[in-house]
Amino acid sequence: MSDFKTMGQQFGRRSWAEPWKIKMVEPIHMITREAREKAAAEAGYNTFLLRSEDVYIDLLTDSGTSAMSDRQWAGMMMGDEAYAGSRNFYNLENAIQTYYGYKHIIPTHQGRGAEHLISQAIIKKGDYIPGNMYFTTTRLHQELAGGTFVDVIIDEAHDPTDPHLFKGNVDIDKVKDLVKKVGAENIPYVSLAGTVNMAGGQPVSMQNARELKAYCDSQGIAVYLDATRMYENAFFIQEREEGYADKSIAEILLEFCSYTDGAWMSAKKDNLVNIGGWLAVNDAKVAEQARTMVVVYEGLHTYGGMAGRDMEALAIGIAEGVQDDHVASRVRQVRYLGKLLLDWNIPIVQPVGGHAIFVDAKRFYPHIPQDQFPSQTLAAQLYLDSGVRTMERGVVSAGRNPETGEHRYPALELTRFTIPRRVYTQAHMDVVAESLKAVYDQRESTKGLKMVYEPEYLRFFQARFALLD
Ligand code: F0G
Repeated sequence: MSDFKTMGQQFGRRSWAEPWKIKMVEPIHMITREAREKAAAEAGYNTFLLRSEDVYIDLLTDSGTSAMSDRQWAGMMMGDEAYAGSRNFYNLENAIQTYYGYKHIIPTHQGRGAEHLISQAIIKKGDYIPGNMYFTTTRLHQELAGGTFVDVIIDEAHDPTDPHLFKGNVDIDKVKDLVKKVGAENIPYVSLAGTVNMAGGQPVSMQNARELKAYCDSQGIAVYLDATRMYENAFFIQEREEGYADKSIAEILLEFCSYTDGAWMSAKKDNLVNIGGWLAVNDAKVAEQARTMVVVYEGLHTYGGMAGRDMEALAIGIAEGVQDDHVASRVRQVRYLGKLLLDWNIPIVQPVGGHAIFVDAKRFYPHIPQDQFPSQTLAAQLYLDSGVRTMERGVVSAGRNPETGEHRYPALELTRFTIPRRVYTQAHMDVVAESLKAVYDQRESTKGLKMVYEPEYLRFFQARFALLD
């Protein structure tokens, strides 16, 4: 075991620290309360519509917000910007094959580009796609391809207080029930995500992946992985699952991916780049279908919407992001914030997940009904208090049922405090926690919001709200 793991146990009070030091900084500052009130009103109380210059600490997302390393920046200077066959593509292909173990690699501009390709390639109209909780863009691409998403995550995942250590697990009995109901021939694949974003960054166990694959193989159903935050998932396996404590994150990742037939990736997260994505599959026929489509929607199959320099930074980021000390410090920073909030009895999803703290807005604002958007309200109030930007992950994100047109009311009504990788310090986490505490202390007098504009797709990005008083 490496030193950073044993140190804490040996000395009790020894802290961990980030495995990097800061070489370049970007100034940030908090604008006045008056300016924040104006900015929030202009943004329709939707944090996606704020200007980033009006934000102090930006916890909207961990997507594309990582700090790149000196090596990645050096890689940017080595971009081979040829239209076809760029050297950087082959470096990227090699990195994905080495660390994830898949055969055929198709680059895309970001994760949803890969979701589009895989959904169009293997879903036919009327199909069902079971998955361990929906993700917004993933489900929409499955629906646009003619499929119906069916949630097969374990029940514990829908309870923010349940202490289950692998709340991302698939309930394989739910998959079996679906097979009985609609027939295996109408289920092209199981959509498996590790970790599960909407459940609070919760991991899937190796055992669950292994059992799922064995069952799906017996039915002729494929398993495709949303690998967006698989490094963090591998960390939880190393920490919590028997037999994995002495394996590296890289070894765990390779084994986990071996229980799947391919993966799509938003490289803007674990892979430590500001833009990029990829699709990787083992089946040559699926690869061919995806390759014929990538040229229509993304770009030639050796760049898929990325510049050569971006592919180089990505190839380097793949290898850096999988290092044990990096992933451990990343998850521990998230936990540090979680512990501060728990010490003040602020209701958050437990166990704390990999990439974010999710505040349970139903318990935070028990007097605000779900159709007055409690987690959207919390995100707006936090911004007003301190300029800290977070994101709604509740009824607004869940959207409307395409058949009935009604709001989908998810069990989880959460506000996400997402921590970018290698960007903020522990002191920033202290500021965030103290601001949330101030908002919590005023919770009883806080009123909800009403929606005044609603776009047709992915409404959380562009919807507008007004204060309800
Ligand atoms: N899958 C997961 C689990 C994601 O979290 C995301 C993006 C995507 C797919 C789509 O990838 O953005 O590169 O097109 N999540 C971001 C977030 C937007 O903030 O959680 P993308």
